[in-house]
Amino acid sequence: MLSSKGIIGLIVLYFVADYSLKYLRKRSKDFESNTTESSRNIIDGVEGLIGNTPLVRIKSLSDATGCDILAKAEMTNPGGSAKDRVALAIINAAEAQGLLTKKGDMVFEGTSGSTGISLAMICRLKGYIAHICLPDDTTQEKVDLLEHLGAVVEKVPPAGIVDPRQYVNIARSRAESSSAVFADQFENEANWTAHYNHTGPEIYTQTNGRLDVFLTGAGTGGTISGVARYLKPLIPSLKVVLADPPGSGLYNKVKNGVMFDIAEREGTRRRHQIDTIIEGIGINRVTANFEAGRQLIDDAVRVTDNQALQMANYLVQNDGLFIGSSTAVNCVAVAAYAKKIGPGHTIVTVLCDSGTRHLSKFWKAVPTGPPLSLDEILNI
Ligand SMILES: Cc1ncc(COP(=O)(O)O)c(C=O)c1O
Repeated sequence: MLSSKGIIGLIVLYFVADYSLKYLRKRSKDFESNTTESSRNIIDGVEGLIGNTPLVRIKSLSDATGCDILAKAEMTNPGGSAKDRVALAIINAAEAQGLLTKKGDMVFEGTSGSTGISLAMICRLKGYIAHICLPDDTTQEKVDLLEHLGAVVEKVPPAGIVDPRQYVNIARSRAESSSAVFADQFENEANWTAHYNHTGPEIYTQTNGRLDVFLTGAGTGGTISGVARYLKPLIPSLKVVLADPPGSGLYNKVKNGVMFDIAEREGTRRRHQIDTIIEGIGINRVTANFEAGRQLIDDAVRVTDNQALQMANYLVQNDGLFIGSSTAVNCVAVAAYAKKIGPGHTIVTVLCDSGTRHLSKFWKAVPTGPPLSLDEILNI
């Protein structure tokens, strides 16, 4: 015979078992419906992988400065850099203007950098043909990559920007003479508007609008202008800061309103004026894309090659973060600016591309020993 305590125990056990069973059934139903939902959440084609890049907190730099150092991981775009956003925007704009209408239509660009790779990728997936003009001393790795992506590669001898045989000028004249599209990343406003329409809003959403500084380098100027134009009206206290490598005139343009670099002082001009290991950022003229946001840039930080090289070693050893040369410049500048404004701030920068794009030049020069401390890097 069961005692009354035993009967109560059995009743409780029955209800517990019944509840658990119902709970498990509900969980499995939820799981099924979630699975069905997520299986519908499929990205349609490679262009769907462009943008919506993660914002990652760089632990070593954040811990060392007392600021939240956040970086937009643009190397996670399918073509490996933010230039995917720009290439897609340029092609979409050309299509909208009726300049690209059928498979086999040509897109010309003069570039030895990431834009060529992104254009080749987008042209391939849309059925167009990218024709990329580049200097004949561009690494074979890059030429191979472009050709594997289906681009026509035309190598030309290095020449100054005013020379009609310079690679950008050749690309422009080829496009004009064949009535084809000239992508023109430096002057084409589809560039900064891509960052205004996507990169800026993504940063705002990812930080809930809580950031004190946006800092990055400028090549065409598309990134800094587009992001600044989107974020500044929403966050009036935001400081926009330029990171500038050796040989570039932009630092002085921002600080003093004139385009001048110390390497250009009288008697010191060389044939290759920009004598730096950094690729993708730094320029000595004001492009339409830089001009679009120039007035919104509050400050600039200059970074040396040696600092960038030491930073690459610092980040790979402390964070396992393998970065390219322009990213190294951004990270030095971010650390310097964080030290200047003090702890408690949120600073957003850009991880432009991965070190894998820079194995044959930049990474050959990166030191391999134990990394310097952040203070040592900033004081070299
Ligand atoms: C690797 C890399 N980083 C940074 C930049 C600079 O970006 P933006 O052209 O938007 O100024 C470029 C531009 O070419 C680049 O190729």
